[in-house]
Amino acid sequence: MHIKCLMAIVLFCANIIITRSKRYDNFILYKATPVEPDHLIFFQNLDRKKYIDVVFWKKPNKLFEDVHFIVNPSDKELLLERAQHFNLDLDVLSENIQRAFDSQIVKNYLRLRVESYSWTNYHNLVDIYQWLADLALKNPSVTGLMSIGKSAEDRDIFVIGINRSGAKSKVIVEGGMHGNEWISTEFLLYLAYNLIMSNRTANERLFELSKNYHWYLLPVCNPDGYEFSHNEDRLWMRNRRNVGHGYFGVDLNRNFDYKFGKHNIIPNSKDDSYGGPVPFSEPESRVIRDFVTKESEGLKYYFSFHAYGQKIVIPYSESKNNMEHDELDNLGKQAIIKMFRTSGVKYSISTGYGTRIAGNSAAWVKKNHKVKYVYTFFLRDNGTYGHALPPDQIQPTCEEALSGLVELMTAKPKRVRSNLFSPASRAAENLILLPCLAFIINCIIQFLAVF
Ligand SMILES: *[C@@H]1O[C@H](CO)[C@@H](O)[C@H](O)[C@H]1NC(C)=O
Ligand SMILES: *[C@@H]1O[C@H](CO)[C@@H](O)[C@H](O)[C@H]1NC(C)=O
Ligand SMILES: *[C@@H]1O[C@H](CO)[C@@H](O)[C@H](O)[C@H]1NC(C)=O
Ligand SMILES: [Zn+2]
Repeated sequence: MHIKCLMAIVLFCANIIITRSKRYDNFILYKATPVEPDHLIFFQNLDRKKYIDVVFWKKPNKLFEDVHFIVNPSDKELLLERAQHFNLDLDVLSENIQRAFDSQIVKNYLRLRVESYSWTNYHNLVDIYQWLADLALKNPSVTGLMSIGKSAEDRDIFVIGINRSGAKSKVIVEGGMHGNEWISTEFLLYLAYNLIMSNRTANERLFELSKNYHWYLLPVCNPDGYEFSHNEDRLWMRNRRNVGHGYFGVDLNRNFDYKFGKHNIIPNSKDDSYGGPVPFSEPESRVIRDFVTKESEGLKYYFSFHAYGQKIVIPYSESKNNMEHDELDNLGKQAIIKMFRTSGVKYSISTGYGTRIAGNSAAWVKKNHKVKYVYTFFLRDNGTYGHALPPDQIQPTCEEALSGLVELMTAKPKRVRSNLFSPASRAAENLILLPCLAFIINCIIQFLAVF
């Protein structure tokens, strides 16, 4: 009897452990392009009703714009049947998304060895916070780490400040608003490290930027969501507040008080992009609101980092045109050309009209605090791996994003070609060939001189 009891308990516990973390074994990642109104309606209906077990990574917005989604293997047949019914082509991007997630290696950081932190793998929250503390401890004259408040589950939300003294204007950069966008957090850490370590000889423009501004970096705006994405459900994007009826989480980037709840948002606490009952209903968005408000004087730039999609977005969502933003558009385009030269990766630029995310932090900062230079970056990639971005792309993504950010903040408005990726944009690379050529000619001359 006792043994039976014990076994039941053991089995019960084992079951808890097994079912604790959601897996995506054999979930297929698909790409499709709605080319007929029926296709778009089919996807939008599916997104609302979820009668097939799918998760949209890139939601259906408009005709001729790609849709990305994963499907539960048990519903694959049903999906294929519906797709055939609508004459809709589906491209398989990944056969097994769990395997792609498994290769997103998370490595531990060794305490007090700041330099050992590398952008060749991802990191969990405890290690990130430890590293930030070590980084601040090692560079006390230029930087400080400060908790600006707590999340729903009582985790600290940290700001790392960088001020080499004398800076008059401020820059605020936020990342990790969505728990599953790990690359945005890694970029914020990369930015912090490079700003602190920059010097005049290695990278003058970055050094000047680190000197001319007081930087405030918020690498993990949604620590509960980040932790949950690491431990329980890789795709978790919202925070973790109990919103009742057995549901958890609000999309923090829809919880700010500008156009809250507009643009056809599904007001449903089950939905992935549920923006909350009222603006600033969430502790995390309130913490960010209060911090930005406190530092709003002299705030010149506000950057928000997300993933994925390789695009730069300028507020606002209600207009297709850039309104007063010609200069912002121009600087964004120069940043895109720079990123293309750095890595050959193509970004695009638009207003928020395409994605129509209402209640986002960027638009609220711009409207409420009259900050002119507000940009949202969606980092790599453009759909190939989506949220399963492999670790060997972390460093290159960070490098290109930093080059784009520096360009954006230092360029003067000038004419840019309508084709940002024309060969002329990359011509600068050919300069590398010249030293090679000189070397070869030199070799030939030396070779001839022997005779
Ligand atoms: C940066 O630090 C200096 C003192 O070290 C201070 O005078 C200045 O106000 C700070 N800049 C900002 C924007 O906070
Ligand atoms: C400047 O930074 C580069 C690259 O990080 C480093 O190799 C160099 O030693 C630094 N120079 C000084 C003077 O600190
Ligand atoms: C991203 O990929 C889509 C096709 O999947 C393409 O239409 C779009 O131009 C790409 N964007 C960039 C900036 O390369
Ligand atoms: Zn996001």
